[in-house]
Amino acid sequence: MQTTTSGGRMLWDLPTRIFHWALAVSFAGAYVLSEADEARGFHVMFGYTVLGLVAFRLVWGFIGSRASRFASFAYSPLAALGYLRDLARGRARDYAGHNPAGSWAIYGIIVLAMATGITGWLNLHGVGGEEAFEEVHEAFANAWLALVVLHVAGVVVSSLAHRRNLAASMVTGRVPEAVVERAAGAARGPGPEVTTRSRWALGSALAVAVIGFWTWAATTAGSPLLAGVAGEHGQASTPYADHEDHEDD
Ligand code: HEM
Ligand code: HEM
Repeated sequence: MQTTTSGGRMLWDLPTRIFHWALAVSFAGAYVLSEADEARGFHVMFGYTVLGLVAFRLVWGFIGSRASRFASFAYSPLAALGYLRDLARGRARDYAGHNPAGSWAIYGIIVLAMATGITGWLNLHGVGGEEAFEEVHEAFANAWLALVVLHVAGVVVSSLAHRRNLAASMVTGRVPEAVVERAAGAARGPGPEVTTRSRWALGSALAVAVIGFWTWAATTAGSPLLAGVAGEHGQASTPYADHEDHEDD
C-alpha cells in the first residue's frame, strides 16, 4: 500500500483531481467568454471539454477508486439536511470523502453541466429555430453558476468547521490519516483504494487529452468547432468566413 506515505492517506485519485480542476477551468472559461461573439469558438471549446469531462466522470463513478465511486457518496436528501443542520450547530461529522450535502451539490453540478452543454450545442446548431434554446441554455449556465457559488462556500465553511483544508485535498489527493481512521463515508465504501499505477496513467491521459484538445482548438481559434454553423453564432469567430466561396460545386 502506497497510500499512507507523507501527509495523509491518498483519497482522491489523479483522474478525479484532473477532472475537477479541468471542469472548474472549463466552466469559468465558457462562462467568461459566453458573451463575446468573436470568442465563440473558445466558448464552444470549453463547452465540449465540459461534456467530455462529464462523460468521463460518469464512467469513473462506477470503476474509479473508492472515494470517487457514486456508491460511496449516495446519501439521502435527509442525510444532506442533517449534515447542514449539524454544521450550523458546530458539530458536523468530518467525512473523509464527500459529505452528504456536498454530494448533492456534486450531482447537481454534473446534471447542470450536461444540460448546459447539450442546450449549448442545440443552440449553436439552431435546433428548433434560431433562438429556441438560447434562453434555456443561459438559464442552465446561471443555475450552474449559483450552485458553484454554493459549492465553494460549502468547501470554505466545512474547511473551517473541520479545521482542515478541503481544497488542498482536492489538489494533493491526500486527507489526514486521523480523519480516515474515524471516517464516516467514502473511506470505507465499495471499490479499491488509490494504489495502482494505472490511475496515474489514466489521470495523465485525461490531462493530455484536455490540453491536446485546447492546443488544437487554439491553433485555429476554435474555428473547426464552428464549421458548418450558419448565422450569427458561427460567422463572427470564423476567420475563413470572409474568404468563403459561395458557389456550390
Ligand atoms: C476555487 C474553486 C473550487 C474549490 C476550492 C473547490 C473545491 C472542491 C473540493 C474540496 C471538493 C471535494 C469536496 C469534498 O471534500 O467532498 C470538490 C468537489 C467537486 N467540485 Fe469543486 N471546487 C472549486 C470549484 C469548482 C467548480 C468551478 C466546479 C464546477 C464547475 C466544481 C465542481 C466540483 C465537482 C463536480 C466535485 C466532485 C468531484 C468528484 O468527485 O469528481 N468545483 N471541489
Ligand atoms: C458547458 C459550459 C457552457 C457554459 C457555462 C455556457 C454559458 C453560456 C452563457 C451564459 C451564454 C449566454 C451569453 C449571453 O448572454 O449572450 C451562452 C451562449 C451561447 N452558448 Fe454557451 N455555455 C456552455 C457550453 C456551450 C456549448 C457546448 C455550446 C455549443 C456547442 C455553446 C454555445 C453557445 C452559443 C451559440 C451561445 C450564443 C447564444 C446567443 O446568441 O446569445 N455553449 N453560453
